[in-house]
Amino acid sequence: MTLKIALTKGRTEKQVLPLLEASGIDCSAIRNKGRQLIFNEDPDFHFILAKGPDVATYLDRSAVDIGIVGSDILAEQQNTQYDMLDLKTGQCRFALASTPDFNPNQTKRKIIATKYPNITQSYFERIGEDVEIIKIEGSVELAPLVGLADAIVDLVETGSTLRENNLRIYTELQPISTHLVVNRLALKQKRSEIFQLSANLKRAQQLEV
Ligand code: PRP
Repeated sequence: MTLKIALTKGRTEKQVLPLLEASGIDCSAIRNKGRQLIFNEDPDFHFILAKGPDVATYLDRSAVDIGIVGSDILAEQQNTQYDMLDLKTGQCRFALASTPDFNPNQTKRKIIATKYPNITQSYFERIGEDVEIIKIEGSVELAPLVGLADAIVDLVETGSTLRENNLRIYTELQPISTHLVVNRLALKQKRSEIFQLSANLKRAQQLEV
């Protein structure tokens, strides 16, 4: 049976393609895609390219069997599908960052800008601090620079976005990587295909180490 896979387009896609290829999947059509979003040439694997937060929607609605998506998005959306495998690509981390003059111990209630309000909320709850959270859709680094927020919670991969905007990390939060997530119904209906894919990916991971 064909496995339908939603792959998060952009950085996640680029970083995971070598692993998919090493597991035996031909990704040449995706590599040469232009603006194409659906890839149905391979009878074993059909791919769609979607925005990260939408991958969970396709999975939840059973439009695909498998999602390849960052654990940042899974944590933010409180994913209920089966998180089958850490692909260990797309490794980065969450960090609390701000301008050099930020005082993490300021007594005034902090304003935190982020694309990840749930993760931010649970982090500050864990450390017992009440903060105001402002949801931002992208380029979160702007917020402390223009006085919209005291600090940000955002992804850091190479650190160059922070460096080039004169921001620094105050606390590192949890690590993030790309995961293989499976629709629970598909896990029953396409069990052998899904376990075969997972085994091939694990073998490919060991080859790459
Ligand atoms: C992410 C993240 C940071 C940047 C970190 O943004 O929100 O801005 O990458 O990467 P770095 O540490 O390697 O510089 P993305 O590129 O996804 O764009 P966005 O800010 O518009 O969401």
